[in-house]
Amino acid sequence: MKRLCLVCQNVDCKNRGSEEIMNELERRVAEKGLADLEVRPYMCFGACQEGPNIVLYPEKSWYAGVKKEDLDDILSHISGGQEVKMLDTIDSSLKELIYQLLDTGVF
Ligand code: FES
Repeated sequence: MKRLCLVCQNVDCKNRGSEEIMNELERRVAEKGLADLEVRPYMCFGACQEGPNIVLYPEKSWYAGVKKEDLDDILSHISGGQEVKMLDTIDSSLKELIYQLLDTGVF
């Protein structure tokens, strides 16, 4: 299975720029030749007031309140660098719930 970079595209995240963020991520992932990673839209992670939200799977890293300026750090993590702790602000119980859902194969 490919690694996934899921970018919420529901209303609240979209209103905060998640479509542009997803497009930029897609462009930069292709540019870097990261063939094992797919950037994919996601319906909603349930943290709508804290978006734009991005979840890396199967790594299970959640980035909230993502701005275009954060994409360098996120891409660095995707390419094998450090997690971006500053953007890891979501409550752990919600994270667990979503990760369990993803583990069932629901994308
Ligand atoms: S709208 Fe993005 S998490 Fe719900």
